[in-house]
Amino acid sequence: MKNPFTPSDIASLPEDFFGRDKEIRLLARAINQGSVCIEGSFGIGKSSFMSRTLLHMDGFASNEKCVFVMAVGHGDIKTVDDAALLVLDKLVEVDNTQQKIKIGIPKLISYESTEAYTFFNEGRHLSALSKIVADQSFKSQINNAENFIIAIDECEKCSPAIARLMRTLCTEVQLQGIKNLRFVLAGVSPFYQQMADVDRGVTRFIYKSINLEPLDQDSALTLLDDKFKVVATSAERDGESLNIDPEVIDRIAAISGGHPHLLQLLGSHVIEHEFEDPDGCIDIKDLVDSLRTICYESRGRDYDLLIHTMKNESVFSDYHTFIELAGGSFPSKVDRSKALEAIDSDAIDWLLTRNIISVNDDTTYSVVDEFLRVRVVLDLQETKLDEVELELMNHGELSLPGQSFEMLYENTGRENV
Ligand SMILES: Nc1ncnc2c1ncn2[C@@H]1O[C@H](COP(=O)(O)OP(=O)(O)OP(=O)(O)O)[C@@H](O)[C@H]1O
Ligand SMILES: [Mg+2]
Repeated sequence: MKNPFTPSDIASLPEDFFGRDKEIRLLARAINQGSVCIEGSFGIGKSSFMSRTLLHMDGFASNEKCVFVMAVGHGDIKTVDDAALLVLDKLVEVDNTQQKIKIGIPKLISYESTEAYTFFNEGRHLSALSKIVADQSFKSQINNAENFIIAIDECEKCSPAIARLMRTLCTEVQLQGIKNLRFVLAGVSPFYQQMADVDRGVTRFIYKSINLEPLDQDSALTLLDDKFKVVATSAERDGESLNIDPEVIDRIAAISGGHPHLLQLLGSHVIEHEFEDPDGCIDIKDLVDSLRTICYESRGRDYDLLIHTMKNESVFSDYHTFIELAGGSFPSKVDRSKALEAIDSDAIDWLLTRNIISVNDDTTYSVVDEFLRVRVVLDLQETKLDEVELELMNHGELSLPGQSFEMLYENTGRENV
């Protein structure tokens, strides 16, 4: 039985990518106007969306004719030269014997530069990159493309350096009359704000910033339908009979709230559950078992540690208040002003810097990991687990503790924080 869910892979191929047609079209138009940012919370699909949009810009099922290089940011990128090297690594090949830098982007005739090599060798990576991008022969070649795109993922890990790179490179090439260089930057929000904090003027170079939301209901259901069809077909081919309760698909869509990573993760676990304990039917029981497996086994140790740390740092009660404010629906959304009224701002900052909660948009926060939230609710409702699961299965919502947090803690005999 095939498991077509991909919780650990970026969905970059068109056949793996679901929904977001409108966003791709919007972003494509924006790229023709200027540079863009893709923001969103963890696992919301930023990398997949960036990759799929770049494919569109490259002419896949479209009339676009752009050329792109794609790099991934990381915590060691501190300076503008580090950031330039990140891009150069994807753009050039260094020929030490001939003391040349060779550029070989598919679709562009290759081009060599000895001057850029000298800069490169001296560690002046920004100068090397500027030299290449502003060079006449490079310029005439990229003019064959509509736009030359420098795409950088995971920008939140090095936003100050990326801001400086974008500012300097864009200014330099614009001064030289080059109009078709674009940046496509993706990262966990609020990296755009972090770039603006470093350099107010940098926002002038960003034409549009897009905040990714979960997939809409139709796309989530199509994803699940398609994947479960693959499962059924593969089981049939192997001569096994397999029934899939359509209710499972509806419930996964509801619990995940269209969050692509949660869709993929839950789907994948449900299939594995049936594989490990086959009864010829993928039903609600597989789903309940999968939730438990995710919360207490596959991610159990990480969650134990996180909960322990939150208790030690006296912020567990704040996390609890936060999930109470989120209510029972998925994905969680908490009004930022309400959160700041109910929770100490230091605790909010602590939860934000540890990536336990994240800024969703201008007005709301979210929990980063919905399963940690489910786990905490399951822990607190220990005596009423069936009730929680029933609520989750029947309505796709969490039933929250009716009593106050402190009372629950006394009742379950856990140490209060
Ligand atoms: N449009 C989509 N269709 C199908 N699956 C998707 C889609 N977008 C994302 N996914 C799936 O969701 C998961 C997370 O996607 P991705 O890695 O792109 O998110 P991300 O926001 O870049 O995550 P991170 O914050 O960890 O960088 C992956 O399993 C991916 O396969
Ligand atoms: Mg990513």
